[in-house]
Amino acid sequence: MKVTVAIDGPAAAGKSTVAKLVAKKLGYVYIDTGAMYRAYTWYCMEKGVDCQDHDACINFVGEVSIVLKEDGAVLCNDIDVTRAIREPRVSGNVSYIASYKEIRLFLVDQQRKMAESNSVIMDGRDIGTYVLPNADVKIFQIASVETRAKRRYDENISKGITCTLEEIEEDVRKRDYIDSHRDFAPLTCAEDAITLDTSNMSIEEVVDAIINIIDKRLKEKYPNA
Ligand code: CDP
Repeated sequence: MKVTVAIDGPAAAGKSTVAKLVAKKLGYVYIDTGAMYRAYTWYCMEKGVDCQDHDACINFVGEVSIVLKEDGAVLCNDIDVTRAIREPRVSGNVSYIASYKEIRLFLVDQQRKMAESNSVIMDGRDIGTYVLPNADVKIFQIASVETRAKRRYDENISKGITCTLEEIEEDVRKRDYIDSHRDFAPLTCAEDAITLDTSNMSIEEVVDAIINIIDKRLKEKYPNA
């Protein structure tokens, strides 16, 4: 049986950390759509273009090729950008890039194709509402701003990315605002999504909770499977 799981939610809610673990446990393919918007942003910055310049940024549609490797590596036009796309300078610009409809259509098309032939768990902002509206399971993962900022700060420090907690909190708030106020496919909870507040949960607890939700939903949907 081919299963599709959509996990959406605000910045740094821990979606990718848990989605990766759930995918491993269930044998699904994990698709990090945020990495694609980040890679596109990295490319614009490499080209010296202002990410707030819509016309200049959309020019690269068709010229940018993004590959998500199975081991988590991200390639942009054959360059390994896995680490570079996590830098604060990219985080600070990605929400502008993600607000451009032409770029979203270009990347969403690839995301839908990736979900065609495998069981997938895909995380992002618009997966349950726009990319995979018929997903078998939809989860909206949230946590307080303070928790999210602290999690991302710890993650960055462990990766050797220099930052302060204040900067991260500001970035998270700014991205949430832009992501939820854009015109096209904004961050919003799908009507049929289950909201999971992970503020006081460990990674293992979130993974278990998500696996239980998937299990329950699939049993309801396919009682004879
Ligand atoms: O991991 P984190 O929550 O910091 O963000 P991400 O998933 O890597 O996504 C980075 C940015 O890409 C978000 O802040 C959004 O602006 C954009 N994004 C989006 O618009 N739609 C998606 N499906 C995924 C990401």
